[in-house]
Amino acid sequence: MLQDRIRNASLLDRVVSADEAALLIKDGMTVGMSGFTRAGEAKAVPLALAERAKKSPLSITLMTGASLGNDLDKTMVEAHMLARRMPFQSDPALRKAINAGEVMFIDQHLSETVEQLRSGQIHGVDVAIIEAVAITSEGGIVPTTSVGNSASFAILADKIIVEINLSQSVILEGLHDIFIPARRPTRMPIPVVTPDSRVGLPYIPVPPEKIAAIVVTEKEDSFSTVLPPDDDTKAIASHLSDFLLNEVKQGRMGYELQPLQAGIGTIANAVMHGFIDTPFHDLKMYSEVLQDSTFELFDSGKLTFASGSSITLSGEMNEKVMPRLMDYKSRLILRPQEVSNHPEVIRRLGIIGINTALEFDIYGNVNSTHVGGTNMMNGIGGSGDFARNAYMSIFVTKSIAKNGSISSVVPMVSHVDHTEHDVDILVTEVGIADLRGLAPRERAPVIIRNCVHPLYRDQLADYYERAVKRGGHTPHILEEAFSWHMALREKGTMLPSA
Ligand code: COA
Repeated sequence: MLQDRIRNASLLDRVVSADEAALLIKDGMTVGMSGFTRAGEAKAVPLALAERAKKSPLSITLMTGASLGNDLDKTMVEAHMLARRMPFQSDPALRKAINAGEVMFIDQHLSETVEQLRSGQIHGVDVAIIEAVAITSEGGIVPTTSVGNSASFAILADKIIVEINLSQSVILEGLHDIFIPARRPTRMPIPVVTPDSRVGLPYIPVPPEKIAAIVVTEKEDSFSTVLPPDDDTKAIASHLSDFLLNEVKQGRMGYELQPLQAGIGTIANAVMHGFIDTPFHDLKMYSEVLQDSTFELFDSGKLTFASGSSITLSGEMNEKVMPRLMDYKSRLILRPQEVSNHPEVIRRLGIIGINTALEFDIYGNVNSTHVGGTNMMNGIGGSGDFARNAYMSIFVTKSIAKNGSISSVVPMVSHVDHTEHDVDILVTEVGIADLRGLAPRERAPVIIRNCVHPLYRDQLADYYERAVKRGGHTPHILEEAFSWHMALREKGTMLPSA
């Protein structure tokens, strides 16, 4: 019954088709849409907009929480309707358009977008499109599998379109904790003091009259594309586990560790999966994306609580988890991304942040976003929010990419997302570099010895030795620093023998 999902009777007559709702969005508008790492995105209205854009030109700025599923970015980019896009994406077609300069992409720390919106530093949201499980009798919007930026988009927008998704379980209701920081200068501390702190409402509070249209859909979230652990990611997980075990033995933390954050993608998921076979117990997550590994850790009894901003699962895991959502519910919270990723909370809780690098350099600067220094991969996402404020900031990556033609450890990164000041520990399948308390001249030998693939180790050691002869706090041979990237561009490989 639709009344079970739209519980405010005055809103029932706002149910319209996706095409009709899409008419609220005009050329040149800024649209704030739900969706965070392929979870909980609005699904019908963006498709209707793309169809319309094919017939009559339409150009919008699209803000979301993070990446979208159901090929929505692809569909919208192919309809040439995206002028600007922020703050994160992971779609190959959109990536191509961004790198061709056709879409202006603003790659942003995920905690920042709504702060800038709220304070009027960037153009406001004209229309918010929010996927919901239900609308409460007061008009509150109950999100689905992600919160992302949905709450602030809805609160700040002039008009709201709600997509009630009947395929999303009503059991999701009660999972969300919507807390919105007050405007400055009267802002108080965010009262999250443990990963399981509930500090807000289970719905997004909006005046019902702002809900201009309601669309009913049944389309499901698309599944995550992460690959299962392989030998390299298992080795990374094992190095990390040995390192953390030593931290426990040194008395720096207990077997429950500090709350864990894990980045997106195959490697971070595999590393978290690796905690199953460790002596650690009573682990807690304070993260943003809850991937398959979160539920594997719950099922193994290792994890007691997980706070995030979205749930993004593979097809296989989705089949296992969704029918048993009730069993997990008391151990989960989904928060707005400005709270899950808030510097204040991350620093207070003492998070161990585990994020992924595309490449890092001999001093520990990390590039997570730009291939060859120019081409956008996905975006910085929340990695910077966590890395800078974590108790311990860890970056993981495989030591080589593309069958060895790329070394992930280079003389100088071709783009910097996380400076050496934000990086404590680096891990590849080769080993681990503990950079804490080390000066640049101490860092480089440790990184070269412990993290570089044997194919590239001598070449990198040679670069460093020659750089040191030139002197400096952070020795470099500037005319050579990007020679590895240039060799890749010109010869297709960084390997010296090629
Ligand atoms: N140069 C060029 N390409 C590289 C590379 C390098 N140094 N290192 C890896 N790659 C390529 C891989 O070959 C792979 O390519 P493919 O998709 O064609 O197979 C791709 O990058 C992804 O690498 P993969 O090894 O599969 O890792 P992943 O799925 O774990 O993703 C990132 C790694 C860095 C792309 C991903 O974690 C990311 O986007 N991070 C930034 C955002 C973030 O950290 N968010 C965390 C908080 S949400």
